[in-house]
Amino acid sequence: VILTQDELKKIAAYKAVEFVESGMVLGLGTGSTAKHAVDRIGELLRQGKLSNIVGIPTSKKTQEQAVSLGIPLSDLDNYPTIDLAIDGADEVDPHLNLVKGRGGSLLREKMVEGACKKFVCIVDESKLVKHLGGSGLALPVEIVPFCWKFTANKLQKLFQGSDCVAKLRNDGEGKPFVTDNGNYIVDLYLKKEMGDLQVASDAILRIAGVVEHGMFLDMATTVIVADLPFGIYID
Ligand code: A5P
Repeated sequence: VILTQDELKKIAAYKAVEFVESGMVLGLGTGSTAKHAVDRIGELLRQGKLSNIVGIPTSKKTQEQAVSLGIPLSDLDNYPTIDLAIDGADEVDPHLNLVKGRGGSLLREKMVEGACKKFVCIVDESKLVKHLGGSGLALPVEIVPFCWKFTANKLQKLFQGSDCVAKLRNDGEGKPFVTDNGNYIVDLYLKKEMGDLQVASDAILRIAGVVEHGMFLDMATTVIVADLPFGIYID
């Protein structure tokens, strides 16, 4: 049997939903993998196999999906502690550090997942990397729109040793991509490893104009990987 990447994402998502119990407050992730988990939670609620769930969405898109499925929703103001979050990632390193935000929802994801007792990350094997930033894709950084070039230049200079190119993300129609929080995203393309990730994280966050970045260090408690031909494994 040859499974598509989307089928692998679904397998990882359904496995993660096995951690969900009635009465839980759940962080609902964003992206094509997390979407399957939210669908599954909606299905189990409809079937009466789960009850008393409160969902805390990590984006407007997930909020809309959850509303359409009839999942009761709230927010971090009302539920500052979340039992379990399920979300995808763009990269996962061997220490379960993640890069997230290629879908643009990194700020809300970091707030919600930072408030979780358990954060189950769901990926297919294409997301596994040796070093974050090592897949040739970008590290996303959410910045305020005010003088974005100034902030983007500072970010590029910070990683000049890694031959960094900082690019403003566009919406595909020639305008800047705008996040759910009204901010922009700068994608940092790094040609070399970042070195100490915590040091890099702190340095990014010290730049005025930066709101948050997409490295999720020491946050995932479990990563579920759907792979072929080995099936699912859990780290
Ligand atoms: C959204 O901003 C991201 O953090 C997603 O969680 C991440 O990009 C994974 O998305 P996919 O499951 O669509 O690959």
